[in-house]
Amino acid sequence: MLAIIGGSGLTQLAYLEIARREVVRTPFGEPSGALTHGRIGKQEVVFLARHGHNHTIPPHRVNYRANIWALVKAAGAAGIVSVASVGGIRADLKPGALVVPHQILDYTWGRPHTFFDGGEAPVVHVDFTEPYDRALRERLLCAGEAAAVPLADGAVYATTQGPRLESAAEVNKLERDGADIVGMTGMPEAALARELETPYAAICAVANWGAGRGDSAEAIHFDRIEAVLQESLVQVRRVIEHLCAAV
Ligand code: HPA
Repeated sequence: MLAIIGGSGLTQLAYLEIARREVVRTPFGEPSGALTHGRIGKQEVVFLARHGHNHTIPPHRVNYRANIWALVKAAGAAGIVSVASVGGIRADLKPGALVVPHQILDYTWGRPHTFFDGGEAPVVHVDFTEPYDRALRERLLCAGEAAAVPLADGAVYATTQGPRLESAAEVNKLERDGADIVGMTGMPEAALARELETPYAAICAVANWGAGRGDSAEAIHFDRIEAVLQESLVQVRRVIEHLCAAV
């Protein structure tokens, strides 16, 4: 069973043959919405819209723990593919590009970010040297090739708190820190998946240039983002279809 967490713009997968919807309650509260169970080709899939079905939950209010718990412990997902929109920082990651990140930076704060939060159980530290699962990344890249959808292999994803976008100086600082793309939801999602020992990888759609760059030099134009994202998400859906067909 493969879990797909859909980000902005991807609140459903049209080709998912829907079998049932499931409302799950977890020890960490409610996930962003009902889980949609179904099948793409032979692959059993469970889908969850990260920001809720009507896109009402901002990045800092997403219940990441409930989402990951529901997908892994309730639905039994053996892997999680995250779809997320990001701003581009690296020169080749322009609006419209799709990228499979290999590293992550965390600038978020105040988000419940661990399942191991003290209490009676012994302290647990997880290894996070490679935050994204190598094999699942490879499968995504192969699916991109099979679908003839260009996917950039590797990027450092900086996770900011949001919901506001960054200042130009903040994007410059992120670049100095080694970031190639910037988004608001990569963490703690990736770390929570690791805590539950579940392979996690992401496919990121570059929606805009980071603040202060390219056509975002003076401001980020939301009207342009929408059009770019719609186009990109058609490609993302094709990649996911091929990923599932390869099972
Ligand atoms: N910054 C942060 N998150 C984003 C951006 C951005 O420029 N674009 C899409 N998600």
